[in-house]
Amino acid sequence: VETDADLSELNTLRLPARARRLARPVTLDALEQVLAERDPAESLQVIGEGSNLVIHGDLPGLTLCPAMDGMALVKEDAEFVWVAAGAGVHWDDLVAWTVEQGWQGLENLSLIPGTAGAAPFQNIGAYGVELSQVLEQVTVMEVASGRVTHFAAEECEFAYRDSRFKSRDRGRYVITGIELRLNKLPACNVSYGPLKDHFAHLPVEDVLPAAVRERVIAVRQSKLPDPAVLANAGSFFKNPVVSVDKAGQLKKSFPGLVGYEQPEGIKLAAGWLIEQAGWKGRRLGPVGMHSEQALVLVNHGGGTSEDVLALASAVRRDVWERFGVSLEQEPILLP
Ligand code: EPU
Repeated sequence: VETDADLSELNTLRLPARARRLARPVTLDALEQVLAERDPAESLQVIGEGSNLVIHGDLPGLTLCPAMDGMALVKEDAEFVWVAAGAGVHWDDLVAWTVEQGWQGLENLSLIPGTAGAAPFQNIGAYGVELSQVLEQVTVMEVASGRVTHFAAEECEFAYRDSRFKSRDRGRYVITGIELRLNKLPACNVSYGPLKDHFAHLPVEDVLPAAVRERVIAVRQSKLPDPAVLANAGSFFKNPVVSVDKAGQLKKSFPGLVGYEQPEGIKLAAGWLIEQAGWKGRRLGPVGMHSEQALVLVNHGGGTSEDVLALASAVRRDVWERFGVSLEQEPILLP
């Protein structure tokens, strides 16, 4: 356990902050020991690679960075393979490895920053696929008891960018590993706009996971800033879901409104709302909304959490005033 650890390299928005105590357990035993030695009154937070965080000041108490590694084929049958990965595995290494084996399921989730253990926490999703569709189970350690248990996908209460780990059970478990079920034969999902057009000339069974991965990487690189080059935490707001009535009214005043039908209503493209509110490529101090994707908040250098939160509230205010739509922050605010 490291004390007074610098977190500026452990959050992709590059916000200056320190952790009072930081532990990176590599095994379940090491994690169990750290938890057993902790004073139960000490606050606790779990982070992965810090790619979906706004660290607002120094972190008190204990910060855990689960570092269990390893990726393995667990079992297979005629149709599927089951693969396991430790919580500390870099997510895209897992995607790359499974795609190289020709297994189908993760290709749309290529290049998402972060760890395998963080993936179920917020049910990562992109290009028409969510983790919940391929997840078999999550392995966790209960903080209070050190007991290891598993949750099947149906027990994880997955929703859009949400799970029980992020909501009602926040702080109760540490995710230590995941298991996924992937297809042996390609059945790629290329329903999402920029993929659909690209693969339109092929029958779906001829669309290979490796080709989809390549295309997803190209699309991401054209819009989303690489956090190693320009600090950011991905989409800064969720795409808001509004009622069909509300979307209909907005469409009358703003014919260009971008929305997608969902069971719960219409999911609006927050990036479009922010762009229309004049924030695309605009800065407030050292931070700004990205010039290629208005939903991504970027730190051009030297920005603090105060700068980030001031920009976020200005954007929310302007979107609210113009459209009467409330934006919800997507990255987790710590502490
Ligand atoms: N748009 C604009 N202006 C912009 C950005 C977007 O008008 O500056 C409109 C365009 O019409 C575009 C539409 O919004 O077609 C959707 O944009 P995009 O395809 O880039 O996706 P998104 O809805 O902005 C979501 C996820 C991303 C994920 C992409 C692709 C959320 C909060 N974000 O973004 O996830 O990569 O879809 O599936 O749901 C993340 O969570 O950090 C993340 C990057």
